[in-house]
Amino acid sequence: MFSALPDLPEDAILRLMALYRDDPRPAKLDLGVGVYRDADGRTPVMGAIKAAEQRLCDTQDTKSYVGLLGAPDFAAAITSLVLGDDMAARTACAATPGGTGALHLAAELVAMAAPGAAVWLPDPTWPNHAGILAHCGRSVRHYRHAAPDGRFDAKGMAEDLRAAAPGDVVLLHGCCHNPTGIDPDADEWAALAAGLAERGLLPLVDLAYLGFGAGLAADAAPLRVLAAHCPEMLIAVSCSKTFGVYRDRVGALLAVAPQPATRERTAAALAHLNRLNFSFPPDHGARAVTLVLEDDGLRVQWHDELEAMRRRIAGLRAALAAGLRQAAQTDQFDGIAAQRGMFSRLGLKPEHIRELRDRHAVYLVGDGRINIAGLTDDVIPTLCRQVADVLHRA
Ligand code: LMR
Repeated sequence: MFSALPDLPEDAILRLMALYRDDPRPAKLDLGVGVYRDADGRTPVMGAIKAAEQRLCDTQDTKSYVGLLGAPDFAAAITSLVLGDDMAARTACAATPGGTGALHLAAELVAMAAPGAAVWLPDPTWPNHAGILAHCGRSVRHYRHAAPDGRFDAKGMAEDLRAAAPGDVVLLHGCCHNPTGIDPDADEWAALAAGLAERGLLPLVDLAYLGFGAGLAADAAPLRVLAAHCPEMLIAVSCSKTFGVYRDRVGALLAVAPQPATRERTAAALAHLNRLNFSFPPDHGARAVTLVLEDDGLRVQWHDELEAMRRRIAGLRAALAAGLRQAAQTDQFDGIAAQRGMFSRLGLKPEHIRELRDRHAVYLVGDGRINIAGLTDDVIPTLCRQVADVLHRA
């Protein structure tokens, strides 16, 4: 039977991780997978999470099952973090294995509630979006996200979504768009939310980088604008980056319903789907996150650590944009400084990206996406020279 299995496409980001791992050159640089790194190139466990885990270890007296939607206090803490304190009565929350689990659950919920609905993805987007949705049998369409001038393409998006039917789902990146780092501004979010509500389109927000853009409150603000306009909305929350708990697989799907009765029906559907997929969601990481969010001291510590990561990335962005301008003698990279979160695209051609890897052991995703958090102040001048080198060779 197994020999009949089809050849499957490799995941571009995971393939790059393997190529980097196998590269013997000592000066290699991994700017591929979206994982935060500190100035020493490490991805440390956040101090607040470590303290919460310690407390958990000391006090937890059972590992018996919790519930199909995860622990209610995790749901309350995540809902409040993302949507504020007023939305609990409208919001069903299911804990999931990471943000990818939440996206998968969202796709299945849409399939159950509106089997004919298409899901509209930004172009470009995280490559796994289309894969997950197609795997769940959803019809996938695309709308323009980034304009050629490196700004959010509000006009292109609106034009493309004219072909969407009421009830279709529109996937949005809550902040720190992956891969471009290009986010709508506050006015564009307000217009977008009003447009979706008017057209009867359902927002599905992928929220994987909360706190990495302009800060926690500013990054969460668009979610609240969407919830104020749209009667229904889905939010796939990942705690991987925001709490640094990548391998613990902590995530949640929030489903905002028009009224509490619909919320109950939605919660029942989410519990049913979790039961069919894996029964009970992972609990350990979610519990550590809950402890951090509920304890004043740990919350302050976590917020300080998150802010330090955000500021470090912003500083690296500014240095990279300035260094590239100087080394390549072009303003084509200036937009990087204004973009947000871990990622930007360098706008390089595939041959440049290959040259960077082959000649200089610099690893970027094939669309030219760069993980800014993979840089250090020391390597920026060298990288800028290497980028200039491959550009001038072409
Ligand atoms: C990324 O975009 O690199 C991260 O979200 C990790 C992943 O799973 O692709």
